Amino acid sequence: MNIIKEAKKSKFINDNGILSSKIDDRTTLEVSQFYSEAPFPNYQGYENSFVLSEIVTENNFLNDLKNHVRFNKRFIEVGSGTCQLSLAMAVGGNSLIVAMDPTKESLKLGKEFAEKNNISNVVFLNSDIFDDDVQDNFFDVVWCSGVLHHTKDSKKGFEIISKWVKKDGIIIVGVYNTIGRLRTNFRQLLYKLLRGSDFGKKLVSFLDPYLRKNLSEEKKLAWFRDQYEHPVERKHSIDEVMSWFEENDISFLGSIPSTNFEFKNISQMNGDKGTYLSRLFSQLAMLLSNLGGEGGLCILVGKKNFNEEVISSN
Ligand SMILES: C[S@@+](CC[C@H](N)C(=O)[O-])C[C@H]1O[C@@H](n2cnc3c(N)ncnc32)[C@H](O)[C@@H]1O
Repeated sequence: MNIIKEAKKSKFINDNGILSSKIDDRTTLEVSQFYSEAPFPNYQGYENSFVLSEIVTENNFLNDLKNHVRFNKRFIEVGSGTCQLSLAMAVGGNSLIVAMDPTKESLKLGKEFAEKNNISNVVFLNSDIFDDDVQDNFFDVVWCSGVLHHTKDSKKGFEIISKWVKKDGIIIVGVYNTIGRLRTNFRQLLYKLLRGSDFGKKLVSFLDPYLRKNLSEEKKLAWFRDQYEHPVERKHSIDEVMSWFEENDISFLGSIPSTNFEFKNISQMNGDKGTYLSRLFSQLAMLLSNLGGEGGLCILVGKKNFNEEVISSN
Protein backbone atom coordinates (compact mmCIF):
# COMPACT_ATOMS: atom_id res chain seq x y z
CA MET A 1 0.00 0.00 0.00
CA ASN A 2 1.47 3.33 -1.09
CA ILE A 3 1.01 5.39 2.04
CA ILE A 4 4.24 7.28 1.46
CA LYS A 5 4.97 9.59 -1.49
CA GLU A 6 7.17 7.88 -4.10
CA ALA A 7 9.88 10.54 -3.73
CA LYS A 8 10.05 10.06 0.05
CA LYS A 9 10.09 6.25 0.22
CA SER A 10 13.86 5.91 0.31
CA LYS A 11 14.21 7.85 3.55
CA PHE A 12 12.13 5.28 5.49
CA ILE A 13 13.42 2.14 7.19
CA ASN A 14 11.47 -0.58 8.95
CA ASP A 15 12.53 -0.37 12.59
CA ASN A 16 10.93 -3.35 14.35
CA GLY A 17 7.60 -2.84 12.64
CA ILE A 18 7.67 0.97 12.77
CA LEU A 19 8.24 2.77 9.46
CA SER A 20 10.78 5.33 10.56
CA SER A 21 12.34 8.41 9.05
CA LYS A 22 14.93 10.88 10.25
CA ILE A 23 13.28 14.04 11.54
CA ASP A 24 15.17 17.33 11.25
CA ASP A 25 12.77 20.12 12.15
CA ARG A 26 13.95 21.87 15.33
CA THR A 27 10.49 22.41 16.89
CA THR A 28 9.36 18.87 16.07
CA LEU A 29 12.55 17.46 17.60
CA GLU A 30 12.09 19.54 20.77
CA VAL A 31 8.43 18.50 21.14
CA SER A 32 9.19 14.90 20.31
CA GLN A 33 11.97 14.81 22.94
CA PHE A 34 9.45 16.20 25.44
CA TYR A 35 6.96 13.37 24.69
CA SER A 36 9.70 10.72 24.69
CA GLU A 37 10.08 11.34 28.42
CA ALA A 38 6.35 10.80 29.05
CA PRO A 39 4.47 9.39 26.03
CA PHE A 40 0.96 10.82 25.73
CA PRO A 41 -1.75 9.86 26.64
CA ASN A 42 -0.29 6.49 27.73
CA TYR A 43 -2.26 3.50 29.07
CA GLN A 44 -4.06 2.55 32.27
CA GLY A 45 -2.41 -0.85 32.08
CA TYR A 46 -5.54 -3.00 31.93
CA GLU A 47 -6.69 -2.16 28.38
CA ASN A 48 -7.18 -4.81 25.71
CA SER A 49 -9.08 -4.82 22.39
CA PHE A 50 -12.36 -5.32 24.19
CA VAL A 51 -11.77 -2.37 26.53
CA LEU A 52 -10.84 -0.07 23.62
CA SER A 53 -13.98 -1.17 21.74
CA GLU A 54 -16.12 -0.49 24.81
CA ILE A 55 -14.66 3.03 25.15
CA VAL A 56 -15.67 3.69 21.54
CA THR A 57 -19.14 2.13 21.94
CA GLU A 58 -19.88 4.29 24.96
CA ASN A 59 -18.90 7.51 23.15
CA ASN A 60 -21.53 8.61 20.62
CA PHE A 61 -19.14 10.63 18.50
CA LEU A 62 -16.44 7.94 18.31
CA ASN A 63 -18.96 5.15 17.78
CA ASP A 64 -20.38 7.00 14.79
CA LEU A 65 -16.86 7.54 13.42
CA LYS A 66 -16.02 3.87 13.95
CA ASN A 67 -19.12 2.83 11.99
CA HIS A 68 -17.89 5.04 9.16
CA VAL A 69 -14.30 3.75 9.07
CA ARG A 70 -14.70 0.10 10.10
CA PHE A 71 -14.61 -1.49 6.61
CA ASN A 72 -12.65 -0.82 3.40
CA LYS A 73 -11.51 2.67 4.35
CA ARG A 74 -8.21 4.45 4.87
CA PHE A 75 -7.84 6.33 8.15
CA ILE A 76 -4.83 8.25 9.44
CA GLU A 77 -4.35 9.59 12.95
CA VAL A 78 -1.80 12.39 12.67
CA GLY A 79 0.06 12.86 15.95
CA SER A 80 -1.30 9.60 17.31
CA GLY A 81 0.71 9.64 20.53
CA THR A 82 0.38 6.16 22.09
CA CYS A 83 -2.14 5.21 19.34
CA GLN A 84 -5.31 4.30 21.31
CA LEU A 85 -7.66 5.91 18.80
CA SER A 86 -6.00 4.20 15.82
CA LEU A 87 -6.07 0.83 17.58
CA ALA A 88 -9.71 1.31 18.56
CA MET A 89 -10.61 2.17 14.95
CA ALA A 90 -8.77 -0.94 13.73
CA VAL A 91 -10.34 -3.52 16.06
CA GLY A 92 -13.01 -5.66 14.38
CA GLY A 93 -12.63 -4.11 10.93
CA ASN A 94 -10.51 -4.43 7.80
CA SER A 95 -9.63 -0.80 7.04
CA LEU A 96 -6.11 0.49 6.62
CA ILE A 97 -5.31 2.47 9.75
CA VAL A 98 -2.17 4.60 10.01
CA ALA A 99 -0.88 5.87 13.35
CA MET A 100 1.63 8.61 12.62
CA ASP A 101 3.82 10.41 15.14
CA PRO A 102 7.36 11.81 15.31
CA THR A 103 7.78 10.37 18.84
CA LYS A 104 8.99 6.81 18.43
CA GLU A 105 8.58 5.95 22.13
CA SER A 106 4.84 6.63 21.79
CA LEU A 107 4.51 4.55 18.62
CA LYS A 108 6.39 1.70 20.34
CA LEU A 109 3.70 1.51 23.04
CA GLY A 110 1.03 1.37 20.34
CA LYS A 111 2.92 -1.30 18.42
CA GLU A 112 3.33 -3.42 21.58
CA PHE A 113 -0.39 -3.17 22.22
CA ALA A 114 -1.19 -4.19 18.64
CA GLU A 115 1.10 -7.23 18.93
CA LYS A 116 -0.36 -8.34 22.27
CA ASN A 117 -3.89 -8.00 20.95
CA ASN A 118 -3.35 -9.40 17.45
CA ILE A 119 -4.33 -6.17 15.70
CA SER A 120 -2.72 -6.36 12.28
CA ASN A 121 -4.29 -3.58 10.23
CA VAL A 122 -2.41 -0.65 11.79
CA VAL A 123 0.70 0.83 10.16
CA PHE A 124 2.96 2.70 12.58
CA LEU A 125 4.57 5.65 10.83
CA ASN A 126 7.30 7.72 12.45
CA SER A 127 7.10 11.02 10.60
CA ASP A 128 6.69 14.78 10.98
CA ILE A 129 3.71 16.61 9.41
CA PHE A 130 6.09 19.20 7.96
CA ASP A 131 8.04 16.55 6.03
CA ASP A 132 4.81 15.94 4.09
CA ASP A 133 5.70 12.28 3.51
CA VAL A 134 2.15 10.97 3.09
CA GLN A 135 0.37 10.54 -0.27
CA ASP A 136 -1.99 13.32 -1.29
CA ASN A 137 -5.70 12.52 -1.87
CA PHE A 138 -5.27 9.13 -0.19
CA PHE A 139 -7.27 8.95 3.05
CA ASP A 140 -11.04 8.72 3.63
CA VAL A 141 -10.52 10.20 7.07
CA VAL A 142 -7.69 12.33 8.46
CA TRP A 143 -7.84 12.79 12.23
CA CYS A 144 -5.50 15.23 13.96
CA SER A 145 -6.39 16.20 17.50
CA GLY A 146 -4.27 17.83 20.16
CA VAL A 147 -1.34 18.22 17.77
CA LEU A 148 -1.27 21.30 15.53
CA HIS A 149 -1.04 23.77 18.43
CA HIS A 150 2.19 22.00 19.51
CA THR A 151 3.91 22.42 16.13
CA LYS A 152 5.85 25.32 14.63
CA ASP A 153 2.86 26.51 12.58
CA SER A 154 -0.70 25.25 13.09
CA LYS A 155 -2.09 26.77 9.91
CA LYS A 156 0.71 25.41 7.71
CA GLY A 157 0.35 22.01 9.40
CA PHE A 158 -3.36 22.03 8.58
CA GLU A 159 -2.62 22.97 4.96
CA ILE A 160 -0.33 19.92 4.65
CA ILE A 161 -2.63 17.34 6.28
CA SER A 162 -5.66 18.58 4.37
CA LYS A 163 -3.94 17.52 1.13
CA TRP A 164 -3.85 13.92 2.38
CA VAL A 165 -7.67 13.67 2.41
CA LYS A 166 -9.51 12.27 -0.63
CA LYS A 167 -12.24 14.17 -2.43
CA ASP A 168 -15.36 13.86 -0.28
CA GLY A 169 -13.15 12.55 2.52
CA ILE A 170 -13.37 13.87 6.06
CA ILE A 171 -10.88 15.83 8.14
CA ILE A 172 -11.27 16.11 11.89
CA VAL A 173 -9.05 18.54 13.72
CA GLY A 174 -8.89 19.29 17.45
CA VAL A 175 -7.09 22.39 18.74
CA TYR A 176 -6.92 24.27 22.03
CA ASN A 177 -9.64 26.89 21.97
CA THR A 178 -8.80 30.54 22.68
CA ILE A 179 -11.64 30.90 25.18
CA GLY A 180 -12.25 27.27 26.14
CA ARG A 181 -8.74 26.86 27.50
CA LEU A 182 -8.90 29.80 29.91
CA ARG A 183 -9.48 27.57 32.95
CA THR A 184 -6.31 25.65 32.13
CA ASN A 185 -4.49 28.92 31.47
CA PHE A 186 -5.45 30.05 34.97
CA ARG A 187 -3.98 26.87 36.50
CA GLN A 188 -0.88 27.27 34.30
CA LEU A 189 -0.45 30.79 35.71
CA LEU A 190 -0.77 29.49 39.28
CA TYR A 191 1.84 26.82 38.61
CA LYS A 192 4.17 29.43 37.14
CA LEU A 193 3.66 31.86 40.04
CA LEU A 194 4.49 29.02 42.43
CA ARG A 195 7.62 28.44 40.33
CA GLY A 196 6.85 24.85 39.48
CA SER A 197 7.27 23.86 43.16
CA ASP A 198 5.98 20.61 44.66
CA PHE A 199 3.26 22.61 46.34
CA GLY A 200 2.34 24.19 42.98
CA LYS A 201 2.17 20.75 41.44
CA LYS A 202 -0.09 19.43 44.20
CA LEU A 203 -2.38 22.46 44.08
CA VAL A 204 -2.76 22.39 40.30
CA SER A 205 -3.30 18.60 40.33
CA PHE A 206 -6.04 19.09 42.91
CA LEU A 207 -7.70 21.83 40.83
CA ASP A 208 -7.50 19.91 37.54
CA PRO A 209 -10.69 17.82 37.06
CA TYR A 210 -8.92 15.34 34.77
CA LEU A 211 -6.18 14.62 37.31
CA ARG A 212 -8.79 13.89 39.99
CA LYS A 213 -9.86 10.83 37.95
CA ASN A 214 -8.63 7.33 38.68
CA LEU A 215 -5.61 7.27 36.38
CA SER A 216 -2.39 5.27 36.16
CA GLU A 217 0.76 7.10 37.29
CA GLU A 218 1.95 7.08 33.66
CA LYS A 219 -1.23 8.78 32.45
CA LYS A 220 -1.12 11.35 35.27
CA LEU A 221 2.48 12.25 34.50
CA ALA A 222 1.77 12.50 30.76
CA TRP A 223 -1.24 14.76 31.35
CA PHE A 224 0.51 17.00 33.89
CA ARG A 225 3.50 17.61 31.64
CA ASP A 226 1.30 18.06 28.55
CA GLN A 227 -0.90 20.66 30.24
CA TYR A 228 1.53 22.54 32.48
CA GLU A 229 5.08 22.08 31.24
CA HIS A 230 4.81 22.02 27.45
CA PRO A 231 7.51 23.93 25.54
CA VAL A 232 5.24 24.78 22.54
CA GLU A 233 1.59 25.66 22.86
CA ARG A 234 -0.87 27.97 21.08
CA LYS A 235 -4.66 28.45 20.97
CA HIS A 236 -7.12 29.07 18.12
CA SER A 237 -10.72 30.22 17.80
CA ILE A 238 -13.46 28.39 15.88
CA ASP A 239 -13.54 31.23 13.33
CA GLU A 240 -9.81 30.96 12.77
CA VAL A 241 -9.97 27.21 12.05
CA MET A 242 -13.00 27.80 9.81
CA SER A 243 -10.85 30.18 7.75
CA TRP A 244 -8.19 27.43 7.37
CA PHE A 245 -10.96 25.18 6.06
CA GLU A 246 -12.01 27.74 3.46
CA GLU A 247 -8.47 28.34 2.29
CA ASN A 248 -7.88 24.63 1.76
CA ASP A 249 -11.03 23.60 -0.09
CA ILE A 250 -12.66 22.02 2.93
CA SER A 251 -16.37 22.53 3.67
CA PHE A 252 -17.22 22.96 7.32
CA LEU A 253 -19.52 20.16 8.55
CA GLY A 254 -19.76 20.80 12.28
CA SER A 255 -17.90 21.08 15.55
CA ILE A 256 -17.73 20.17 19.21
CA PRO A 257 -18.81 22.37 20.87
CA SER A 258 -21.45 22.88 18.23
CA THR A 259 -21.86 26.31 16.62
CA ASN A 260 -25.61 26.18 17.28
CA PHE A 261 -25.64 24.33 20.65
CA GLU A 262 -26.95 21.03 19.19
CA PHE A 263 -24.62 18.07 19.61
CA LYS A 264 -24.32 16.10 16.37
CA ASN A 265 -22.34 13.04 15.30
CA ILE A 266 -20.31 13.38 12.12
CA SER A 267 -22.94 11.49 10.10
CA GLN A 268 -25.59 14.01 11.24
CA MET A 269 -23.54 17.19 10.77
CA ASN A 270 -25.09 19.54 8.21
CA GLY A 271 -22.60 22.39 7.85
CA ASP A 272 -24.56 24.86 9.98
CA LYS A 273 -21.98 27.50 10.94
CA GLY A 274 -24.33 29.40 13.26
CA THR A 275 -23.65 33.11 13.65
CA TYR A 276 -20.64 34.98 15.00
CA LEU A 277 -22.52 35.40 18.30
CA SER A 278 -23.62 31.77 18.56
CA ARG A 279 -20.03 30.66 17.94
CA LEU A 280 -18.81 33.07 20.60
CA PHE A 281 -21.35 31.76 23.11
CA SER A 282 -20.53 28.12 22.37
CA GLN A 283 -16.86 28.85 23.07
CA LEU A 284 -17.75 30.72 26.27
CA ALA A 285 -19.96 27.81 27.31
CA MET A 286 -16.92 25.52 27.12
CA LEU A 287 -15.77 27.14 30.36
CA LEU A 288 -18.75 25.63 32.16
CA SER A 289 -18.52 22.15 30.63
CA ASN A 290 -16.12 19.19 30.66
CA LEU A 291 -14.56 20.58 27.49
CA GLY A 292 -13.25 23.61 29.36
CA GLY A 293 -12.45 21.62 32.50
CA GLU A 294 -10.31 19.17 30.60
CA GLY A 295 -7.99 21.31 28.50
CA GLY A 296 -10.33 23.32 26.26
CA LEU A 297 -9.96 21.25 23.11
CA CYS A 298 -12.36 22.19 20.31
CA ILE A 299 -13.01 19.79 17.44
CA LEU A 300 -13.93 20.86 13.92
CA VAL A 301 -15.02 18.50 11.17
CA GLY A 302 -14.86 19.23 7.44
CA LYS A 303 -15.27 17.55 4.09
CA LYS A 304 -12.84 17.92 1.19
CA ASN A 305 -14.55 19.55 -1.79
CA PHE A 306 -14.58 18.14 -5.27
CA ASN A 307 -11.71 19.74 -7.14
CA GLU A 308 -10.87 18.94 -10.79
CA GLU A 309 -7.18 19.81 -10.44
CA VAL A 310 -6.70 17.51 -7.47
CA ILE A 311 -8.42 14.62 -9.25
CA SER A 312 -6.42 14.93 -12.47
CA SER A 313 -3.06 15.08 -10.63
CA ASN A 314 -3.90 11.92 -8.64
C1 LIG B 1 -0.93 15.98 23.12
S1 LIG B 1 -0.30 14.68 22.17
C2 LIG B 1 -1.81 14.12 21.42
C3 LIG B 1 -1.81 12.65 21.15
C4 LIG B 1 -3.16 12.14 20.62
N1 LIG B 1 -3.54 12.80 19.39
C5 LIG B 1 -4.23 12.31 21.66
O1 LIG B 1 -5.10 13.17 21.48
O2 LIG B 1 -4.21 11.60 22.65
C6 LIG B 1 0.48 15.49 20.82
C7 LIG B 1 1.16 14.53 19.85
O3 LIG B 1 1.51 15.26 18.68
C8 LIG B 1 2.74 14.76 18.22
N2 LIG B 1 3.36 15.79 17.36
C9 LIG B 1 4.00 16.91 17.75
N3 LIG B 1 4.50 17.56 16.69
C10 LIG B 1 4.14 16.84 15.59
C11 LIG B 1 4.41 16.99 14.19
N4 LIG B 1 5.13 18.01 13.73
N5 LIG B 1 3.91 16.06 13.35
C12 LIG B 1 3.14 15.03 13.84
N6 LIG B 1 2.89 14.84 15.15
C13 LIG B 1 3.39 15.73 16.02
C14 LIG B 1 3.52 14.49 19.49
O4 LIG B 1 4.60 13.62 19.28
C15 LIG B 1 2.45 13.93 20.40
O5 LIG B 1 2.39 12.53 20.37
